[in-house]
Amino acid sequence: MSEMPKRPILVLLASHWLSMLGTALVTLAGFSWLFLLPTNLRGRVENPYIGLLVFVAIPIVFFVGLVLIPIGVFLGKRRIAATIETLPDRRSALRRTGIFFAAMTVANLVIGSQLSYRAVQHMDTPQFCGQSCHVMKPEFMAHELPPHEAVSCAECHIVPGANGWLHAKMAGTNQLFAVIFNNYPRPIESAMEDNKLVSSAETCQNCHERERVVGPRLRIITKYKDDEQNTRTETVLMMLVGGGASGGIHGTHMGAGVHMRYAASDKKRQTIPWVEYRNAATGIARTYLASDAKAEAVSALPTFDMQCVDCHNRAAHAFGQAEHAVDSALASGEIAAGLPFVKKTAVELLKADYKSGEEADKKISAGLGKFYSDKYPEIAKKRGGEIQAAGHAIAGIYAHNVFPDLKVTWGTYPNNLGHVDFPGCFRCHDESHATSDKKTITQDCGTCHNAVAVEETAPDVLKTLGLAAKLDKAKETK
Ligand code: HEC
Ligand code: HEC
Ligand code: HEC
Ligand code: HEC
Ligand code: HEC
Repeated sequence: MSEMPKRPILVLLASHWLSMLGTALVTLAGFSWLFLLPTNLRGRVENPYIGLLVFVAIPIVFFVGLVLIPIGVFLGKRRIAATIETLPDRRSALRRTGIFFAAMTVANLVIGSQLSYRAVQHMDTPQFCGQSCHVMKPEFMAHELPPHEAVSCAECHIVPGANGWLHAKMAGTNQLFAVIFNNYPRPIESAMEDNKLVSSAETCQNCHERERVVGPRLRIITKYKDDEQNTRTETVLMMLVGGGASGGIHGTHMGAGVHMRYAASDKKRQTIPWVEYRNAATGIARTYLASDAKAEAVSALPTFDMQCVDCHNRAAHAFGQAEHAVDSALASGEIAAGLPFVKKTAVELLKADYKSGEEADKKISAGLGKFYSDKYPEIAKKRGGEIQAAGHAIAGIYAHNVFPDLKVTWGTYPNNLGHVDFPGCFRCHDESHATSDKKTITQDCGTCHNAVAVEETAPDVLKTLGLAAKLDKAKETK
């Protein structure tokens, strides 16, 4: 370099290519930040990739630049000293430089703290966790449905506090590498299978009281048969949820002083050969062993404390079964229940093999259209709009539950709340688990619910409760 600049600030910044690069990066990021100030102050954007750019990439560029400047100054210190020697008024030059750096530091602190605050905040949003990372798309989409759509990913997946946050971001970085190198498992393991799920005591129980007493809760399960009329049936269960000292489902497992542990012989925890029940309030302790299990083999298995997610494991990411998902869409009117054989056809279309989501999207709508034009040409003509809407709804069900590229399909993630689709409660409640004095874990049908009606068309109980007409109304108006 033949001609060194004469202004002391430029002397510092231009003394080494690293500090020049640093200055360029800080300026670039600073201007981008100014340009995007409205977005930054709002703290959210719709598009996940813009979110990554605004809240993560710009701050990284900014801080890398800030770090490079002093490194460059340090590396170029000899040249700086030499140049400063040649300046006519060294004292005032140094003062001006000092003021300049003080002002820049204040500005950088403001911009930097705002940038990092937004970055940290952004990294906890469902958008960052679920959308920036396509591997988590199934969980992201399931999370958009009630009841937890307003609860952020972080509230269930990260231990509260700075430590938990750091831990989660480190795990996230590992996952990022797995995605970059394309060596993550497909389907990705469930959080419990992976043994990574934060204890319910630090998540669920921040919002839900462990010992709250819940009265008997009415559950109405609407289903449609495979026949031409898609005959509607209702199952009516009184769930004996209970809680605290009142026993019932919650009280027995989660009451004060109750501590249950179990051993699982598979990672998905679907086979549970050993269960221990302790109650500090009553002093009762019982150990149950499955009839086909050997005590020595069981003692080598990992054990887990029973918590909310042992039953409510799909509280935020419930993937449906094809049949139930179609039932719900029929009940809500998204699929017109008046279309002949629409239940049966929809389930068949949903369970067929497709190579990608796009292929399914096209073939499902087309398949439904073809079914009616082949078998019911009159209906196809008259009710084209309903058929199209139904095709759209069925394709939507597929998009929410099956992800061919991630190998997530019907039943990939078992739901432990129940016993009809998956072993669920019956993993333990199978009358085969017994104490040494032959007390078993009950499967008595009236223990957990009173089944007032099971798949009945127009059950009396709904008339008694004054609900029959209301449910029919819901069907008519849709
Ligand atoms: C209400 C609590 C809750 C919220 C909110 C929540 N999760 Fe989960 N998540 C869980 C539980 C519980 C599991 C464990 C499921 C299991 O092991 O069967 C889980 C599992 C997962 C898994 C592992 C794969 C699987 O399906 O088991 C991923 C990935 C995941 N969640 C991502 C997310 C993302 C992304 C968000 C935000 C968009 C989110 N979660 C919000 C509770 C929650
Ligand atoms: C940040 C607070 C929050 C956290 C954390 C949270 N929940 Fe919830 N949960 C709610 C709210 C609010 C509702 C009620 C939603 C509604 O009524 O629409 C709800 C609803 C539920 C319901 C459904 C109740 C019903 O009437 O069907 C269950 C079950 C449930 N939560 C279990 C869990 C479990 C299990 C976890 C931990 C994995 C958890 N929740 C974590 C806030 C939370
Ligand atoms: C032994 C299994 C089991 C455990 C453990 C369990 N639950 Fe439940 N919970 C159920 C069942 C079953 C229902 C009733 C579901 C239904 O209505 O169909 C229920 C209902 C609920 C509801 C809805 C209550 C209402 O007002 O209607 C909430 C909320 C809930 N559980 C949260 C939790 C939380 C939080 C924990 C942990 C402290 C927990 N559960 C532990 C099985 C369990
Ligand atoms: C990990 C094993 C395990 C799972 C899974 C499990 N339970 Fe239990 N449950 C037990 C044990 C053990 C007892 C008996 C406790 C005792 O010795 O008093 C019990 C007792 C009960 C009782 C009280 C029974 C009585 O005679 O009063 C109810 C109600 C109950 N469970 C409901 C459920 C429901 C509903 C589910 C599924 C959502 C479920 N349990 C899942 C282990 C389990
Ligand atoms: C350990 C507790 C427990 C026992 C014992 C039990 N159930 Fe259930 N049952 C449940 C739970 C939990 C659900 C799911 C409720 C829900 O969907 O929220 C359920 C759901 C059902 C359903 C509705 C399922 C559907 O999707 O249509 C039927 C029918 C049923 N049980 C019948 C029985 C019969 C028959 C027995 C006796 C052999 C029995 N249950 C024993 C806990 C139990």
